[in-house]
Amino acid sequence: MSDRIAEVLDELRALTARDAPTKGGRVLSYVYDTGRSDIDRVAHAAAEIVQSVNGLDPTAFPSVAALERDLIAFARPLFHGDDDVVGSVTSGGTESCLLAVKTARDVWRAQGGEGRARLLAPVTVHAAFQKAAHLFDLRLDLVPVDPATGALDPNALTRRLGPDVAIAVASAPSYPFAHLDPIATIAAHTADHGIALHVDACIGGFALPWWPDVPEWDFRIPGVTSLSADLHKYGYAPKGASILLQRGRDRHAAQYFATTRWPGYPVVNPTLLGSKAAGPMAAAWAITRLLGAEGYGELIDRTRVATERLVTAVTAIPGVRVMGTPTGPLFALAADTATDARTQVDPHHLADAVRRRGFVLQQQPGLAQSDGTRLPPTTHLTITPVTADAADDLIATITDAGDEVRGRPAADPTPVLAALSSADPSDALNLLGLRAGELPAEQATLTALIEALPHDAAEGILVSLLQSLIDPNAASE
Ligand SMILES: Cc1ncc(COP(=O)(O)O)c(C=O)c1O
Repeated sequence: MSDRIAEVLDELRALTARDAPTKGGRVLSYVYDTGRSDIDRVAHAAAEIVQSVNGLDPTAFPSVAALERDLIAFARPLFHGDDDVVGSVTSGGTESCLLAVKTARDVWRAQGGEGRARLLAPVTVHAAFQKAAHLFDLRLDLVPVDPATGALDPNALTRRLGPDVAIAVASAPSYPFAHLDPIATIAAHTADHGIALHVDACIGGFALPWWPDVPEWDFRIPGVTSLSADLHKYGYAPKGASILLQRGRDRHAAQYFATTRWPGYPVVNPTLLGSKAAGPMAAAWAITRLLGAEGYGELIDRTRVATERLVTAVTAIPGVRVMGTPTGPLFALAADTATDARTQVDPHHLADAVRRRGFVLQQQPGLAQSDGTRLPPTTHLTITPVTADAADDLIATITDAGDEVRGRPAADPTPVLAALSSADPSDALNLLGLRAGELPAEQATLTALIEALPHDAAEGILVSLLQSLIDPNAASE
């Protein structure tokens, strides 16, 4: 390697030195690590082979069509899709969710739907659907869930069905609390009304097929019209690969955007992007080839054993409870408010204390629902196969961190709130002691502030914070 190339790569390595570690099970969200170097190797090599290919055009690059076809053929039987189920590979969960909504809206319009369509879903549905409603101009109708467990009462959703609903969405399971929505019951009603029902299995899709005792959640249910499952989550592919399946070739056709009305090449896009990488898809393809359904099953068995051990262990920690009844390899922790204040463990202080000890858990702010009830603040854990190796250490760490913060009241945002003289987001960053371009080491106060502020203000502050991270003029080193 030339000296210059080595220097450039060293510079890149140095930039990643402060990143959360993507290997070894230290980060309990964002990354899905099998702990198997053969999987990483095949993914890396496969992506490299197609590095220069443009996924935009399967006629110029027939390999991209072959890879996509194979991935759809691999996924379809896992989700019990018959020959009528077809689909596309997208760049990720968000794109799959966006396209499911766009497609349903267009089908609804084609069937005579008029005015503004409605998207109906439990409040726990992934935020990608809020983005979809925003981008495609649907009215977002979020149904409150049980504030103690995060569970959806299907009647609360089905009684809101109506002719303006272009799509209902249920999760398998939900990201915040791992609740498996009652999909069969919802589907019976949506099918009666001829309304599309999307199952968001972005996180659960490549785990639940091997999870024991899961009620039916996929294309076995006749009313399910589309389903998303992420290859870059429990498919273990590098980021940039998800599957969106549609029941019916007509529905799949409605997902496409095509135009011959410009002086350039005819544009026929099944997904949101134009030119796109083939690498993540090739990596996903290679991993499915290497593992087969059986290999996935073995990895999920390991993950399930680790998940069960962790759930049992944290349930035994005084002052902590697991939110609801999780299905699949993820769950959330809340303070056990049934115990006295001195015993309770605030989940955000817990996450900060765990982080000081080297594991990264994700803080989730509490949320007021439209019926006035409040979902509690929680801390999220996504378990991956490699967590099995780190489980003893993780359990000891959470237990020890729990002892440190037990009885400590939740972070109080009042001083920052009171000092916030204006809606100027940089004010809030200063008050939190942050310089532009800097992230807080302790997040509990920021999370508490997000909870306490009106959504518009909180969102403004967060945008400002993230914007400053990539601003060449910001004062970060
Ligand atoms: C249930 C669910 N849907 C959608 C998404 C969005 O996926 P992505 O981050 O790949 O865009 C996620 C991500 O965690 C998810 O858990």
